[in-house]
Amino acid sequence: MTGADAGRNAAEKGTAGSRPGSTTGSTTGGPTGTPAARTTGGPTGTTAGATSDTTSGPRTPGGAAAAPAAPPRGISHRGISRRGLFGLAGAGVAGVGLGIAGDRGVQALLAAGTAGTPGIAYPFYQEHQAGIVTPAQDRLHFAAFDMSPGATRADLVSLLQDWTAAAAALTAGKDIGQRGAVDGPYDSPPEDTGEAFGLPPAGLTITVGFGSTLFETSAGLDRFGLASARPDALVDLPHFPGDQLDTARSGGDLCVQACADDPQVAVHAIRNLSRIAFGRAAIRWSQLGFGRTSSTSTSQATPRNLFGFKDGTANIKAEQPAVVNEQVWVGAGDGPAWLTGGSYLVARRIRMTIETWDRTALREQETVFGRTKGQGAPLSGGTEFTEPDFTSTGKDGTPLIAAASHVRLAHPSQNKGVQMLRRGYNFVDGNDDLGRLEAGLFFISYQRRPSQFTAVQLALARHDAMNEYVRHVGSALFAVPPGAARGSYLGAPLFA
Ligand code: HEM
Repeated sequence: MTGADAGRNAAEKGTAGSRPGSTTGSTTGGPTGTPAARTTGGPTGTTAGATSDTTSGPRTPGGAAAAPAAPPRGISHRGISRRGLFGLAGAGVAGVGLGIAGDRGVQALLAAGTAGTPGIAYPFYQEHQAGIVTPAQDRLHFAAFDMSPGATRADLVSLLQDWTAAAAALTAGKDIGQRGAVDGPYDSPPEDTGEAFGLPPAGLTITVGFGSTLFETSAGLDRFGLASARPDALVDLPHFPGDQLDTARSGGDLCVQACADDPQVAVHAIRNLSRIAFGRAAIRWSQLGFGRTSSTSTSQATPRNLFGFKDGTANIKAEQPAVVNEQVWVGAGDGPAWLTGGSYLVARRIRMTIETWDRTALREQETVFGRTKGQGAPLSGGTEFTEPDFTSTGKDGTPLIAAASHVRLAHPSQNKGVQMLRRGYNFVDGNDDLGRLEAGLFFISYQRRPSQFTAVQLALARHDAMNEYVRHVGSALFAVPPGAARGSYLGAPLFA
């Protein structure tokens, strides 16, 4: 019997204990909303009292939201959301499907978030920005922006103010501006582009970050008067062995991460924020993602990445506030005060050579990760949430979890206790010239210090057996300021 065989047997027995915090059963992220149609205008920011997305659950439009004085414009024009009806019909179809697909179908639906509730709206004005420990939604539209040549500090401030107001409206399920998509003057372009008109909030979160170039001095000029405010840690990530980075898919002055359970809602957010930025900033690169590759709450089932493995099992979860504080939020004294309560976002576009992987034996696939493909259990035994035992060996003395396995190399025990909150997405951007899927994992992680990512990625880049099947082609690091206070805007303390 090989080490891998022994591992599979051990894993199937399901013996050892669980990772602390992983089975607490807390349900702070549990969906409670009912589908609600998108509206225009009306009061924004109806979520008073929420101070932290670590502790506050999702807001439902029918719950904490203040009732608008007049019928919401979206409703008066169209009645119930067309898409909402499709969603309900879809849920019915899915329900029928459950009986046919059996347990595997149920798991897939839960993992994919298909059974999610489109009416969920997360509070925007919080201590920390939403979209970090918020239960990972199913869809992503991520965009990096560069400020326009000649843009001034005043342009940057006004852009952040405009984005803040727009993000607060969008995440509450409202259109942009006072008149939205259909109620403006007939001879002017509408304030909102309209493709999300009538759609529910779909759990949209908008998270904004600042790249190191925003703080740069260019040709002797301090671009936005921010050079002295740059955190020491906000510098380009080092070049890692094997990196094949495309500069056109890397870096950026600003970033916006829009996550939602409806792709149209996420795309609508980036499209409108980009439209608002016109003349001040433009998109440098962007990435669409589907099928979250992590769980950030114990209320979520673990999804699968495009290699077919459960991804997010050992992730930091919202229900571990002490770990989140220690590993994710920038603490007072870590750097400049404006970033306290924020985080650092690493984005890596990781291309997967799917075709090679698909010709690889299951034994090799499981050895690469050190976990079983079915249940996601460590090859040292147990079930999905059992801690891996890196000391256990097979009869021939070889470790059950290989030295070059991804899970061993990325585990905190091999990295001086370092952890990170992973929040990545699958992507398939068509195909390349050879007819191979242009597919991979858009890796996103949040950490208190960029060095947490660097330490783990260095170990992976040097030794990970998975390297044969992946290639890092894009990279960026952003400092994510804390949440905006009501009446203020994202990043305001940076300009104080
Ligand atoms: C295509 C790229 C990648 C794939 C397919 C992948 C896949 C996986 C899988 C299947 C697991 C085991 C399940 C889990 O605990 O989530 C895992 C764990 C993990 N991965 Fe990755 N990963 C990728 C890239 C990365 C990168 C770039 C990093 C960071 C530099 C990273 C850090 C981690 C960490 C910290 C764990 C948890 C280890 C533990 O505590 O047990 N991964 N990954």
